[in-house]
Amino acid sequence: MEKISAIRGMNDLLPQKLRIWRDLEKKISSVFCSYGFEEIRTPVLERTELFLRGLGAVTDIVEKEMYSFEDHLNGKKYSLRPENTAAVVRASVQHNLTYNEPKKLWYYGPMFRHERPQAGRYRQFFQFGVEMLGYDGFESEAELILMCKAVWQAIGLSGNLQPVLKINSIGTSEERTLYVKALGEFFERHIDVLDDENLKRLKKNPLRILDSKNENLDTLKNEAPKISSFLGKSSKAHFENLLSLLDSYSIPYEVDLKLVRGLDYYSSTVFEWKASALGAQDTVCGGGRYDALVPLLGGSQQGACGFAIGMERLAEILETEYGNKEGCFLDLYCAHTSQAAKMMAIELAERVRKEGISVRVDLTQSSLKAQVRRAFRNRAQFLAIFGEEEMKAQHVNVRWLNNEEREGQQRKMPFGELAEFLLKNKHNDGNLYQ
Ligand code: HAM
Repeated sequence: MEKISAIRGMNDLLPQKLRIWRDLEKKISSVFCSYGFEEIRTPVLERTELFLRGLGAVTDIVEKEMYSFEDHLNGKKYSLRPENTAAVVRASVQHNLTYNEPKKLWYYGPMFRHERPQAGRYRQFFQFGVEMLGYDGFESEAELILMCKAVWQAIGLSGNLQPVLKINSIGTSEERTLYVKALGEFFERHIDVLDDENLKRLKKNPLRILDSKNENLDTLKNEAPKISSFLGKSSKAHFENLLSLLDSYSIPYEVDLKLVRGLDYYSSTVFEWKASALGAQDTVCGGGRYDALVPLLGGSQQGACGFAIGMERLAEILETEYGNKEGCFLDLYCAHTSQAAKMMAIELAERVRKEGISVRVDLTQSSLKAQVRRAFRNRAQFLAIFGEEEMKAQHVNVRWLNNEEREGQQRKMPFGELAEFLLKNKHNDGNLYQ
């Protein structure tokens, strides 16, 4: 039979990679919790209408990248979520989550975009994101940015590995309308330089030309009108207050007047964190303010902002920088010399697992030598061998494995003392990168 492989751009996450992921997941979620965010989970499938309305019909995501289909049972149109901000806002409006007070929510899960797969760009990818609903002040964006910095620190992205913050203000929708008009007039005058893709953008939304990856347009983009000249007093004050708060926390940033982000729901502050360790797809996190989205999805007018971090890109920086670091992920491996000894190992393993110790009993009939090799490969910290003698004396010999200092050393103890010994001597290898 022919083999069936996974869909292009959709990755299997194999155990070795997942060790890094689990470590990252634990650290990132604990930073979010330390800022008072609560977890929310929404379905991966939503009505297509949510994204059309929420993200904007003239965005790359909605025009080209959604996995959408018509349910043949009821004729309704559904899409796999390409991002989660719209769905979190939908859930907040549906369940009236901000009825009494503003809400801070975080989420983690797969998103789907039909993009051209390449390093750092996949068709299924995971995002860790947060949304602050009911928050108007510039302090909210400052808190988001401080929290990103805390995430970089928690996962070991410091020094030259720390992503660089790019930030901009794209004003209110009225200010942006005037800006987009000026931008359109400017690019009309340089129509001969634009490629087909950008000619389309010029017709539909000239702002998107600033997002273009076509390097031939770089000079033109630099000469184009800047949003900063179109910001009103209040937008300017919001942005300046935010920047001075970042200054007071010594957070370095670069104001990038061409940064507009690829989703229509943003207004006021937008930001991205870029990692130089990555190739072309170097944005590890993107976010901003999106006050207009809640009313657009049927809720009452309220301030809102958030960001999302791309997990694959984050894991890639750590893998490239540190390699696939091997920690110990199992406390005890039990090998045996007979069927009866195997049964004894199973029984003892059940007992010590109840004390919070991870144990793998070799369930094969392999030779003892092969079982010991497997214990090393499984990165166990300790090995216990069960044989005739151990069964008779009701004691067990425990050996240190994968430990340079104590490799080869062993200790004999009665069965009843095994759990206590392991609890005292095992080390927690959860911190892969510190
Ligand atoms: P986004 O910029 O579209 O924003 O995505 C956020 C991050 O997800 C990106 O910076 C990148 O790290 C990762 N990402 C996006 N597309 C892919 C892909 N095809 N493959 C791998 N990683 C990818 C949003 O999604 C907004 N919802 C963020 C937000 C939350 N804004 C406010 N609240």
